[in-house]
Amino acid sequence: MSRVYIFDTTLRDGEQSPGCSMTTPEKLKMAGQLVDLGVDVLEAGFPIASDGDYEAVDAVSRQFPWVQVAALARACTLDIERAASALQHAKRPRIHTFIATSDIHLKYKLKKSRQEVLDSAVAAVALARNYTDDVEFSAEDATRTELEYLEEICQAVVEAGARTVNLPDTVGYSVPDEYAELIGRIVTLLGDRAVVSVHCHDDLGLAVANSLAAVRAGARQVECTINGIGERAGNAALEEVVMAIKIRHDRLPYETNIHSEKLFGASQMLTHFITFGPQPNKAIVGENAFAHEAGIHQDGYLKNPSTYEIMSPASVGVPESRIVLGKHSGRHALKKRAEDLGFQLTRAQVEELYTRFTHIADNKKGLRNEEIIALVKEIIAAHPATETLSVQYTVAK
Ligand code: KIV
Ligand code: ZN
Repeated sequence: MSRVYIFDTTLRDGEQSPGCSMTTPEKLKMAGQLVDLGVDVLEAGFPIASDGDYEAVDAVSRQFPWVQVAALARACTLDIERAASALQHAKRPRIHTFIATSDIHLKYKLKKSRQEVLDSAVAAVALARNYTDDVEFSAEDATRTELEYLEEICQAVVEAGARTVNLPDTVGYSVPDEYAELIGRIVTLLGDRAVVSVHCHDDLGLAVANSLAAVRAGARQVECTINGIGERAGNAALEEVVMAIKIRHDRLPYETNIHSEKLFGASQMLTHFITFGPQPNKAIVGENAFAHEAGIHQDGYLKNPSTYEIMSPASVGVPESRIVLGKHSGRHALKKRAEDLGFQLTRAQVEELYTRFTHIADNKKGLRNEEIIALVKEIIAAHPATETLSVQYTVAK
């Protein structure tokens, strides 16, 4: 099976992190964007955590009845009943129940024995199955869990009825080959009885690399968020996982259902709802992801975009490549920008523009179109040329 399911947790793991809380109307709009994007499973909240989360899961279930909506629940009766109640209007409800399995969490957080945790996991899955056939179990902190115990718990929850088994790298501790090894072991163990899922945090900046390594080892569900938001350093960024699979299909021969040209729109909408956007140099959706400043890069890009772009901005929904004219820009890029702004310059004028531009740009971060227009107009006035034909221009935004 080469299909990889995208489980979006922007509205749950993402939303629960600092600066990311959203109102129910915002969550509904975001859910609509995620549905259009083509996510397979939409985790809409953690209903026991707050009335707002309950309301969001309920509202998303009512508004998008055909969508697979997931609600999170700890492995206990109260949580599972609350999740089931919030999902009552969903046509394809998924209860996602979890419990920590690492000795660190058992000793310091849960104060439970391995047997007690195993019993709770099995009981939770069995209870959830009374409400829906679609039950996912997550072994929180799986990557720091003793392997034999993890295997035992995975077997047990599948026997109890879990159809998806998620092995989170909760603290972003794993590295790709190690995570792939772990996933491979569980995929072999479970066979086609359950989909193995991955959920990676980015504490070491490896969330996407770990997720992709896991897919190559047999995982078929990736849990991720728009812009990579999530606890601490965040979750694997959905847009990066999807575009890596799309662009490097030669090495990652899998399919997702994501309409990649809607990625930028989803990223922008999220940015409007929360308190921060992606950093400028963020892959795929950052402000500079398709910007070229170095002269050599601009020259190559203008001759053929494929010299410096491995995907087109349009393929991820970015309206246009933005060449930033800064101190590293060359004559070619300056001439092209002047042309885009409606000026046909002579060679002498380009030369003059280049000289004055580099002088100004040396002390600035970059020049806006308006500033370039003013400069070009000054040059044309000072050095008129019969071959300067065009006087029409529009100020590009
Ligand atoms: O990071 C994690 O372990 C989680 C689980 C609840 C899936 O978010
Ligand atoms: Zn998480």
